[in-house]
Amino acid sequence: MTMTKHSLTALVTALILTPGVSAAADGVGIEHLGTDNTLVRVDGDAKYVLLPVQESVDDARINVLVDGNIAETIYVRLAKSKTDYTVPFDLTRYKGRKVILDVLTPQGRGSVREAKDDVCWKGIELSETFDTADREEKYRPAYHHTPLYGWMNDPNGMFCKDGVWHLYYQYNPYGSKWQNMTWGHSSTTDLVHWKHEPVAIRPDGLGSVFSGSCVIDHDGTAGFGRDAVIALYTSAGTSQMQSMAVSRDGGTTFTRYAGNPVLTLESEARDPNMFRNEATGEWNLVLAHALDREMLFFTSPDLRTWTLQSGFGKGEGCQEGVWECPDLFQLPVEGSDEKKWVLICNINPGGPFGGSAIQYFTGDWDGRTFTADRDADGRIPVKWLDYGKDNYALVSWSDAPDGRRTAIGWMSNWQYAAEVPTMQYRSANTLPREIGLFKADDGMTYASSAPSPELTALRDRLAVNRSNVALGKKARSFELPQSGLCEIVADIDAAAADSVTLVLSNREGNEVTMTYDTARRTMSMDRRHSGITGFSESFPAVTVAPTLENKGRIALRIFIDRSSIELFGNDGRFVMTNLVFPEAPYSALSASAAGGKAKIKSMKIYSLK
Ligand code: FRU
Repeated sequence: MTMTKHSLTALVTALILTPGVSAAADGVGIEHLGTDNTLVRVDGDAKYVLLPVQESVDDARINVLVDGNIAETIYVRLAKSKTDYTVPFDLTRYKGRKVILDVLTPQGRGSVREAKDDVCWKGIELSETFDTADREEKYRPAYHHTPLYGWMNDPNGMFCKDGVWHLYYQYNPYGSKWQNMTWGHSSTTDLVHWKHEPVAIRPDGLGSVFSGSCVIDHDGTAGFGRDAVIALYTSAGTSQMQSMAVSRDGGTTFTRYAGNPVLTLESEARDPNMFRNEATGEWNLVLAHALDREMLFFTSPDLRTWTLQSGFGKGEGCQEGVWECPDLFQLPVEGSDEKKWVLICNINPGGPFGGSAIQYFTGDWDGRTFTADRDADGRIPVKWLDYGKDNYALVSWSDAPDGRRTAIGWMSNWQYAAEVPTMQYRSANTLPREIGLFKADDGMTYASSAPSPELTALRDRLAVNRSNVALGKKARSFELPQSGLCEIVADIDAAAADSVTLVLSNREGNEVTMTYDTARRTMSMDRRHSGITGFSESFPAVTVAPTLENKGRIALRIFIDRSSIELFGNDGRFVMTNLVFPEAPYSALSASAAGGKAKIKSMKIYSLK
C-alpha cells in the first residue's frame, strides 16, 4: 500500500491528537497503550536515558526492545507521585539501533488518564552525563567502599592480579533496593582508594547474576588460555544454577560461556566458591545448598565439569537460617606449626543478634571431605567471625600476595538493609581484613580478622596522644576530630577493675556505649541511642563479643566512619562491625572504670582522610 500525502498528514494529525501520546522530553516519545502498558521510544544518540525512581512504589517491568527484539528485561520502581532520584539506562551498547522501552507498570491505575499522570513520563530524559556527585548523603562513608549509586549486597569474585585487587559485588544499577542482580566492579591497588569500573556481568536468559567467585586459571585448564580469569556465579532465573564467564583482559570484561549452565542440581544451591587445590592438583568448589543448610563440595579438572564429592553441615552449627556464600581456605595457626582449614558459612537469619552473620568452622580438608574440629565434649562448636550485626557474606580474595587471606564483607544485615536512611546508594563494604587462626584459652582454634595493614595509610593527623591515664568512676574525656572520621587506638589494662566503659557522644545527645567486662571476658557495643534507629525495630541493639582471653588487657582499634563503627580487639581476636546513623558526627569519647581502678596505658586518636 502506498501512502498519499493526504493520508500521511491525517495519520500525523491523528498521532498528535491520539490521547495515548504524552508530552515528553526531547528525543523521547511516550505512548500509552492502556492502564498499565506504555512504550517509551528513544530517538537519538545520547549516552543515557534517565529513569525517575520512587522507592515506595512497586517495580515496573521494562522489556528493552532493540530493533524489535527483547534485548533485556529490567525492573525499575518508576516514579508515580514523586521522584526520589533518577537512574541511568546506558544506551551506548545499542548505539545506532532503535530502542523502545516497553513498560508494564504495576496494576492499580483505574484509567489511562490516571496512568498518564505518573510523574515518571515527564521525567524520562536523554542525557550525556549522570550526576553521582549531586547527593545529599550525609551517611555515605568517607573511606569505605560504596557503589557510585544504586543498591549493593555481597562482595563477589575477588582476586588479585598484577598488583590490582578486584572486587565485584551484587549490584542493582537501576535503584537502591535489591533487584536486577548484576556484578558491579571496583578495583584498588592499596585497599584504601577504590576505582569504579564498568559493570562486569549482566543478567541473561538464564537469570540474574547472583554471588560467586573468580580464579586465575594460570595453566589454562579451562581451555581459555593461560591466566584467563574464570568467574563462576549463580544464574538465578526460574531456578538456581551455576554459570561461567571468562575474562581475557584481567577482569574488566567478561564473556559468558556458551555451554552455560555448567552445574545444575535438583534443589536450590548457590554462591559457588572455587579454588585451586595445590595438594591434589584439582579445582575445588564449595556450593551453598541453601535451604538444606549445608555446603556441597565438588572437584573439577577444567572448571567446567564438576563432580560432587561430599556435603558438610546438615544438622551442624547454627541451623536457624539458610546457608549462603561459602569460602574455604587453609591458614597457619599462630604460634604453632599447625595448619588448619577454615570453612566460612554465611547464614541468614540466625546470627547471634538476629539476622545475617558469618558462621565458620575450623577443621581439615583433604580435597574431598571437610572434617570439622570438635570441642572436648565431641561437639562441633558454633563460631562467629564478627559479633556485630553488620558484616555479612564475607569472602576472601584469591591469589592475594604473600599468602595473605584478605577478606571483605557486606556491611549490612538483611533485617533492615533496604531501609537504612540513605537514598542514591545503599550499602557499603566493611574495611578489608586479614583472616588468621589462633588458639584461645579454651584450647580451641578460632579465626581472627584484623584490619588490613594498608589501612594505616588512612591516618591523617594524630589528634590525641596520651599515656598512663588512670581510670575510675569519674569519666575522662577526649575530643574527637571534628569530621568524626577517626581511628581510636587504645591499650587498656582493666585487670583490677570489673569493667571499663567507653562512650562516643555528640551534641545531639546520641551515644554509643562500649563496655569491656573483665570477669565475663566480653566486649559489648550498645547502639540503641546511637542516632537514627527507628527505621527498623531490628536496628537498635546491644552486641556482645566474647574476648576469648583472660588477660584483663585489651588492645583496641576502633574505626569510625560516617555511618559505621568497626571495633577490632586484640589483633582481631574479637570483632564487632555495627552501622550507626548519628544525627551529628560523634565529637567526644569518654572513658571510665567500675569496680576498681583501670589504666589506659596508651590512647592515640587519628583523624582519618
Ligand atoms: C546473600 C545472597 C546470596 C545470593 C545473593 C543474591 O546475601 O542471598 O545467597 O547469591 O545474596 O543477591
